[in-house]
Amino acid sequence: MTSKKFRIAGSNKQKTNKMKIKLIVLLFGISLIGYSQKKQTTKNSKIKPKTEFVAELMSKMTLDEKIGQLNLPTSGDITTGQANSSNVAKNIEEGKVGGLFNIKSVQKIQEVQRIAVEKSRLKIPLLFGMDVIHGYETTFPIPLGMSATWDMELIKRSAQIAAQEASADGINWTFSPMVDISRDPRWGRVSEGSGEDPYLGSQIAKAMVQGYQGDDLSLDNTILACVKHFALYGAPEAGRDYNTVDMSRIRMYNDYFPPYKAAVDAGVGSVMASFNEVDGIPATGNKWLMTDVLRKQWGFGGFVVTDFTGIPEMIEHGLGDLQTVSALSINAGVEMDMVGEGFLKTLKKSVEEKKVSIEQIDNAVRLILNAKYDLGLFHDPYRYTDAKRAKTEIFTTANRAEARKTAAQSLVLLKNNSQLLPLKKSGTIALIGPLADAKNNMAGTWSVATNQDKSISLLAGITEVAGKKTKVLYAKGSNLDYDAAFEEKATMFGKTLNRDSRSKEDLLAEALKIANQSDIIVAALGESAEMSGESSSRTNLEIPQAQKDLLKELLKTGKPVVLVLFTGRPLVLVQENETVPSILNTWFAGSEAGLAIADVLFGDENPSGKLTATFPRSVGQIPIYYNHKNTGRPLSNKEGKFEKFRSNYIDERNEPLYPFGYGLSYTTFEYSNMKVSAPKMKADETIQLSVEVTNTGDFDGKEVVQLYIRDVVGTVSRPMKELKGFQKVAIKKGSKQTITFTISVEDLKFYNSDLKFIAEAGEFELFLGTDSNTNQKLKMELLP
Ligand code: BGC
Repeated sequence: MTSKKFRIAGSNKQKTNKMKIKLIVLLFGISLIGYSQKKQTTKNSKIKPKTEFVAELMSKMTLDEKIGQLNLPTSGDITTGQANSSNVAKNIEEGKVGGLFNIKSVQKIQEVQRIAVEKSRLKIPLLFGMDVIHGYETTFPIPLGMSATWDMELIKRSAQIAAQEASADGINWTFSPMVDISRDPRWGRVSEGSGEDPYLGSQIAKAMVQGYQGDDLSLDNTILACVKHFALYGAPEAGRDYNTVDMSRIRMYNDYFPPYKAAVDAGVGSVMASFNEVDGIPATGNKWLMTDVLRKQWGFGGFVVTDFTGIPEMIEHGLGDLQTVSALSINAGVEMDMVGEGFLKTLKKSVEEKKVSIEQIDNAVRLILNAKYDLGLFHDPYRYTDAKRAKTEIFTTANRAEARKTAAQSLVLLKNNSQLLPLKKSGTIALIGPLADAKNNMAGTWSVATNQDKSISLLAGITEVAGKKTKVLYAKGSNLDYDAAFEEKATMFGKTLNRDSRSKEDLLAEALKIANQSDIIVAALGESAEMSGESSSRTNLEIPQAQKDLLKELLKTGKPVVLVLFTGRPLVLVQENETVPSILNTWFAGSEAGLAIADVLFGDENPSGKLTATFPRSVGQIPIYYNHKNTGRPLSNKEGKFEKFRSNYIDERNEPLYPFGYGLSYTTFEYSNMKVSAPKMKADETIQLSVEVTNTGDFDGKEVVQLYIRDVVGTVSRPMKELKGFQKVAIKKGSKQTITFTISVEDLKFYNSDLKFIAEAGEFELFLGTDSNTNQKLKMELLP
């Protein structure tokens, strides 16, 4: 019952349902505002149960109409008023379209749906998809930032709000969650995922699916989720987007598959195939992946959609012509063709030539029609096109307030010397940097539905939160980078930073002038929104040079400097870490970013975010991740000093700059009295592991208590540490809490070399602490 902000909508509900709700409201004493109830009242009773309904419909379909259901074009030139004359519209009329994506606005969607249900022969409604990745118009932090909250309720809630807004605007299907594990921050799409850890990634995958889909897909504020990109998309060679992936199966099963599987276990309705190859065969045509793993091993019952032009891209991969790769894809177990038109153009021929069976096509059509049925579209094709909802449920004050709170939780305090932060709400602040007054960069990458103009810049946020007693001066200080061509690539999709034509000297002089008039400098530097995301791989992970130079000059003034860092990925921050007293990493925190960052800067919110991806010391260390193996030649000294003939570098340390799980608070937490309830357990028993955490600082705060386990001896080599539990707890200053984890045999299991998921008897080390570097440990034994 966290959904207080919803309004009970819809008048066509059954009385009994209403009464039940009233009762719940009374019982819990809360105002249950808003979950729309099922619309399956009278209409529902008129339509047959799913299996029967779909079978009957399919019996009326021609082969062309069946193939049409497998086709997913993008909206193309469809816009209100001209829908009827567009090519896509003609295809819809002819029953050649199963769904459309990336049309925005309830009116347009209603108009297009009308073509399907009034003009096509069988009146089959369309799916309307969109990349609703981290919120709709109310935009939440980029997924990497969301993951840094380590708060599953918040994450689920963000997906619920996204579903509520998207469904109010006509969308019934989102291409999210993106759960690709990545250990490579060169890859720009790390911004879209939840970082490097399979356990945390799995929890988040589940929370997202539950948030979007709820318990009942046919409610008008829940939408179909699509877990992507299946599989291994986060491990491209050299971090270059769309590049080859090559990985052992044991690594796939242990480290990369778990979040996809968690989404399937949570009931995700659709899966998107990834662009990359898996074991030599592109995922889009990979039968082992799509049928053996996904359906047979994991029991997935929904449909698989390709990624954008995934089918024709297999021609470039070298797998054959369009007919061949289309047949390969459907025979592998892929049901829907996004934009590629390979199915539309070739499947009929392949059926005639017996390269694809009619059963295979029928199966695909059935799965897509099932999803439409589950969404309630056959009961009411206009279910998601209520213009009233579009006016009242999108970008609401309540949703924005939640986004602001959530964004504040996603920020990670990387450094805070001499408690420079939080700032006082008085005196003069010089806010300097190309990202300080950049509202259209706040939402970050993949924010298709965001109205960038309405996002809150850092300048606006600080000015509002600091209040009247504080003077805020602003100067740009530098452009994003010296190279204008680079800036262009980094500010696509309207995310301009309005490149300043003044010389770097002039920009700097203006900045130094206000710096010298101020008590403190807040430098807003880092990546622009489109420096990460799709097709934004980088080989250099530093802050662009123009901004590094600016920062150096600001430090030279002798004024205290706070670096407010914007980034969509782990950056290399060695210099900044050495020279700047306080660093607050803010990712791209969404439409309310400016306010949320200001809330944290001024201490209205105490930072509690923790990194979910390792920040390297140098690009040469990549791939870098905490749950690595030991090797046969680990370093023998704890200080990380170089040792010849040991696994290390002659020019860099092994450890990262900031480890997985790391993040500071304005307060401090002390861990003590770690205890295990028993030293040994049998497979059918559990053990309690507890620790006392005391807030020893001056602020109330939240801590993410992290549990890691090491399987000391195995039949295969096992990681040094693996996250197996975490609890985010609020602890008041001066007080103490006992945190308890229950360890069962499930936490000790892994895929062995036969790919069997088992636990092996023997010794385990249990670590508890504030990040993955923790050395506080106890031992336990799993008995045979
Ligand atoms: C991306 C997907 C996205 C799709 C549709 C592709 O380029 O890889 O993540 O869902 O486009 O917009």
